[in-house]
Amino acid sequence: MPDLNGWSVLVTAGGTREPIDPVRYVGNRSSGKMGNAIALEAHARGADVTLVTTMPAPDTIEHVVQVETAADMAEAVWSRVVDQDVIVMAAAVADFRPATSHDTKLARRSAPAVIELEPTPDILAGVVERRRDCLVVGFAAETGSLERAIEKAQSKGVDLLVANDVLADGSGFGTVTNQVTIITPDGSAQPWPLLSKAEVASRLWDMIPGLRG
Ligand code: PMT
Repeated sequence: MPDLNGWSVLVTAGGTREPIDPVRYVGNRSSGKMGNAIALEAHARGADVTLVTTMPAPDTIEHVVQVETAADMAEAVWSRVVDQDVIVMAAAVADFRPATSHDTKLARRSAPAVIELEPTPDILAGVVERRRDCLVVGFAAETGSLERAIEKAQSKGVDLLVANDVLADGSGFGTVTNQVTIITPDGSAQPWPLLSKAEVASRLWDMIPGLRG
């Protein structure tokens, strides 16, 4: 029996691409698999799902918004916050983008030696500002210690933070499995075993409705 009937859920997935020129970008290695698994599981449990993604989306997802940059993703997510019961932010959003994006392809001989970067919008912070009674689940891509993830769980206003060590075997970017640690805003951390991304999604959806209290 689906347990998310009547819920509206928005999931972000994939890595944003911040253009240098029309053919080159600053980006990351997110495949969208983690976000897609979360969207598919919510759909299977009866939720009305919106997937905001930079990557190909599963056919069964009702509402798909394709985006490319962090600015596009921010606009797509922020304009939908008030309609959601849960927002899960599994996308790997670039923290910085080139300060100048060229309209035509840079020739090798005129390529700049240095690309100046500027910060992108903090989408998660904007979600937390705009939400009414929507649950917010963030992800944290870390490379070793969980200290920074615990600090994010405590400072970012999320209801739950899912940390993954993107350097661990079978975990993080592009893999079909993930080893995540579930961190609550009080700083408690619960490591889960290495699971398929579909199993991580299933366990998350077992947990999220209970966060409403
Ligand atoms: O797509 P896959 O190949 O399956 O890989 C999955 C994954 C490794 C991308 C995923 O599990 C994951 O960790 N996603 C979050 C990656 C990330 O951006 O982490 P972060 O610690 O930099 O950001 C923390 C949170 O803030 C994230 O929820 C992120 O979506 C959000 N963020 C970050 C920067 C920004 N400008 N705006 C944001 O909203």
